[in-house]
Amino acid sequence: MNRFTDKTVLITGGTSGMGLATAHRLVAEGAHVIVTGRTRARLDAAVEELGPSASGVVADAADLGAVDALTETVRDRHGRLDGLFANAGTGTFLPFENITEQDFDHGIDANFKGVFFTVQKALPLL
Ligand SMILES: NC(=O)c1ccc[n+]([C@@H]2O[C@H](COP(=O)([O-])OP(=O)(O)OC[C@H]3O[C@@H](n4cnc5c(N)ncnc54)[C@H](OP(=O)(O)O)[C@@H]3O)[C@@H](O)[C@H]2O)c1
Repeated sequence: MNRFTDKTVLITGGTSGMGLATAHRLVAEGAHVIVTGRTRARLDAAVEELGPSASGVVADAADLGAVDALTETVRDRHGRLDGLFANAGTGTFLPFENITEQDFDHGIDANFKGVFFTVQKALPLL
């Protein structure tokens, strides 16, 4: 299938789970995918697994400076985006009474603020 030939898709949080699975599917259908993650080692492993139709950018979705830098890099390298999967996120799996303010803020920053600003910054490229 070549539904995504010549299409470029950004997948935040593409080093494991649903992001990586989606990246595999899009590559199989002809896309170039840009995947993100927080560490170079996990990102490099994912890009190697995905093959030459993938590239990676280290970017913490909870860090607005990193989100800005990510979209700048995508603009410089590709000029546009055909799709965005704002998937990067995490969870704190602790008993309710043990969750700290820091845990709470970390979850909100990655899962809510990160998704909001990833979409806002990527929109001009889409
Ligand atoms: N699985 C579920 O049942 C479920 C339910 C509800 C919502 N979700 C959400 O769906 C998304 C994918 O879930 P999954 O189960 O596939 O999770 P996963 O396997 O843990 O993958 C999460 C991905 O997000 C990346 N990531 C996490 N925090 C990040 C951050 N601050 N900045 C950039 N990348 C970050 C991870 O990369 P690195 O670790 O390499 O940085 C990884 O690639 C997540 O946002 C998750 O919260 C999942």
